[in-house]
Parts: sequence; C-alpha cells; structure tokens
Amino acid sequence: MTTTKKTTDASSEKTLVLTTIAHEMRNFVTLIGGSVRLLLRDDIGPLNATQRKILRECQSSSERLNNFIDEIVALSRASRVKLKTAFENVYVTSFIRRVVRKFRGLAQEKDIAIRTRIARTRNPLVRMDQDRIEQVMINLLVNAIQYTEPGGRIEVRVTVPADDLVEVRVEDNGRGLLPEEQEIIFQEYKVGNAVSRENSMGLGLAICKKIIDDHHGRIWAETRNGGGSKFIFTLPVTTP
Ligand SMILES: Nc1ncnc2c1ncn2[C@@H]1O[C@H](COP(=O)(O)OP(=O)(O)OP(=O)(O)O)[C@@H](O)[C@H]1O
Ligand SMILES: [Mg+2]
Repeated sequence: MTTTKKTTDASSEKTLVLTTIAHEMRNFVTLIGGSVRLLLRDDIGPLNATQRKILRECQSSSERLNNFIDEIVALSRASRVKLKTAFENVYVTSFIRRVVRKFRGLAQEKDIAIRTRIARTRNPLVRMDQDRIEQVMINLLVNAIQYTEPGGRIEVRVTVPADDLVEVRVEDNGRGLLPEEQEIIFQEYKVGNAVSRENSMGLGLAICKKIIDDHHGRIWAETRNGGGSKFIFTLPVTTP
C-alpha cells in the first residue's frame, strides 16, 4: 500500500462526494423548475392560495439548494470529506407526507397523479437524518416521475409491518424494470437498459442505498403487478 494509492482513494472519494452533491442539486433544480413552469402555465390563472403554496415550496427548495452549495464550498476546503449528518427522532408518517406534498408541481406538470396511502393511526418515531431521508424520497419520486408516462400514477405507502420497523413504498405504473436491472441499478453509475446516458448519471439509487445503509435499513426494487416499479425501503423504529 503506497501513499499514492491512499491519495488516489481519498481524491476519488472526494470527487464522488462532490458529484453526489451536484446530483442532488440537480434534483432540487428539477423540482423548482417543475413548480415554476407549472405556475407559468396559462390554465393556472392569477395567483390563488394554491399557487402561493407552490411558490412557498419553490422557495424552500431553493433554500435547500443554497445549503448544498454551502456544503460544497465547505467540503472543497476540508481535508477530510464527510457529509454532515444530524440524527434526530422524527414522526415518520407526517414527515413522508410533507415530502410528497413538495412534488405536486412537478407531477402535475407531467400530468402524473401522486397519491399517498399512509395510515393516520400510526406515526412511529424513527431516528434519522431528515435531510438525508428526504434525499432518498426525492430520488425515488424524481425517478418515478421520470420513468412514468404522462397520465400515469404514483403511490406512496407507509406501513408498520412490525413494531420495530417502518416500510415506505414508492410505486409507479411506468416502464418498469427488467429482472436483471433490479439489483445493479443500486450501484454507482449504473443506468437501466433503455435509459439515455445524457439525462442519467446512474447515481440516484446508489445515493439512496448509502443513506439507507447508514440508517440501518434496507432498500430494494420489485416489479409491480400490472406493470411499473416498486421501490421499498425500511427503517428501524426508535425505542424510547
Ligand atoms: N421508477 C423507475 N421505473 C423504472 N426504472 C427505474 C425507476 N427508477 C430507476 N430506474 C432505473 O434505474 C436506473 C438507475 O436509477 P438512478 O436514479 O440511480 O439513476 P438515473 O435515474 O439513471 O440517473 P440519475 O443519477 O440522474 O438519477 C435508471 O437508469 C433506470 O433504468
Ligand atoms: Mg434517477
């Protein structure tokens, strides 16, 4: 093991982290763009309460984008590269509902319906870094929208299959996954067979996997009965 090898590992890790951040920024830009374009559409009309709400969502997404840019600046200065984590106990079903609401603009723009099926009666606490789990949801939902045709449907479900486990599913009725794609798509830089390289970095799901691993959960993909894909992740419930 030489110093050169160590330096190369550190610098490729650094590049990956920076690429990851750039990738996430693009997701937010996608979100903001979707909402803004929606507002500009003729059929929306003058500003009403809903539009104001969408604008507020745009605003908060751009604030997040700014935070990421700050992180890049900090990272490029730091000698040790590590994304900041901030774990706290979060009521998981309310949290997922809030994240899904941010997608109203982008989904509506592509004429895709997003529905949540979340039990109101159970809202367990999960110890998580909210920003990172939000990144997971954003990647899964951006994918679901990207790989589903206009007129399609996305469904987000949260269930509590055991006292110590929460399961979140993002299902769509889009183009679906080939059996041989289901595992490799979680690797860095792997895109599906029918995906154009230009629009796809093949990083979204690798980022999701890393985050879910850091939370001691599991993430995987399945084919949905009747066509489309299902992405499922689990997180351990916090025991007080
Ligand atoms: N909801 C989905 N339906 C069908 N295929 C999907 C879905 N989500 C992901 N995939 C497949 O998994 C591959 C990897 O997804 P991933 O999000 O990691 O990268 P990407 O979407 O190609 O690019 P990006 O890094 O810009 O997100 C995609 O190229 C696509 O083939
Ligand atoms: Mg993606």
